[in-house]
Amino acid sequence: MSPILMERYRSFLPITEATPIISLGEGNTPLVRAIRLEKEFGCGQLYFKLESCNPTGSFKDRGMVVAVANAMERGNKAIVCASTGNTSAATAAYATRFGLTAVVVVPKGGLATGKLAQAFVFGAKIVVIDGTFDRALDVARALSQRHPVVLVNSINPYRIQGQKTASFEIIDELGDAPDAFFIPVGNAGNISAYWQGFVEYHQAGKASRRPRMMGFQAEGAAPIVRGTAVANPQTIASAIRVGNPASWQGAVAARDESEGVIDSVTDDEIMEAYRLMAIAEGIFGEPAAAAPLAGLMKMARNGHDFSRQRVVCVVTGSGLKDPETALKYTSIPKELPPDVAAVEAALGWG
Ligand code: F0G
Repeated sequence: MSPILMERYRSFLPITEATPIISLGEGNTPLVRAIRLEKEFGCGQLYFKLESCNPTGSFKDRGMVVAVANAMERGNKAIVCASTGNTSAATAAYATRFGLTAVVVVPKGGLATGKLAQAFVFGAKIVVIDGTFDRALDVARALSQRHPVVLVNSINPYRIQGQKTASFEIIDELGDAPDAFFIPVGNAGNISAYWQGFVEYHQAGKASRRPRMMGFQAEGAAPIVRGTAVANPQTIASAIRVGNPASWQGAVAARDESEGVIDSVTDDEIMEAYRLMAIAEGIFGEPAAAAPLAGLMKMARNGHDFSRQRVVCVVTGSGLKDPETALKYTSIPKELPPDVAAVEAALGWG
């Protein structure tokens, strides 16, 4: 098995003789069994797919590598994206590594610090607009139509092609598709990509079934659940603060064709899942990455029976990207004099 994602799944990807095979080490991410939470929520088996272990700390790298390879194949020199943060980190990293210019358009006040730091250190041109992610996407799209710069948001079909490889890895590792697959939904590219991957691998005879797709939006940013765009989306999970998803239809198709669900979870439920995932399993995801577990938690508490099911939740991005949110929910310990007695007293070991 090649360690290079584009080589390993070459026959399922839009790769020609002329496509450069490039990599920053994306893919091949861990699928870990969550024994404690599996008991807690009564699942037959529960796994987390740690997409936070990709080179820039989110699933975006799988799609970016294929989109950037395609841009290079066509001789393009610049790429542009709108982003709530993770896409901009991936855009910036792959662009600088493979000699392209990156422009990232981001909403004011909408980015976790770690993600902005990534775009900054990788040398992207960062444009902050006084508007939402959805407006930033309009701007990025217009730039790509007016200038020789390739749009690398998930409306770029090569992004979806790359991201579907995560489904292949899950099936390759489990030997079959799971019964239920839980995923956060923002701009809805990723749920569309995973569904495409599950469908293609099933058609290729690599899996005997396809999972039910369980997508979760944040309650204050839940256009698909409400059936109408949200002008001013609000949620602590900034990555999925999206009011008018570009791949809306793809998400609905994934839900309907898989007999799945697209529902919402509150910020409180997201933060409960965020802490639970960390404390019970040692997994540090960013708030958006806790939405799948929040969804599973909500369904289990409403009496849904997963006891005969194999369930996979995807952890889409690393908790390290958003230290502010982590620290908001903890108190910084008081400084002590540097001696053992004071430390023992503070620990209650006196
Ligand atoms: N989880 C994380 C950590 C994300 O960064 C995103 C999307 C999603 C889930 C939702 O995926 O948009 O394909 O439905 N982040 C985008 C960005 C919007 O700009 O980084 P989706």
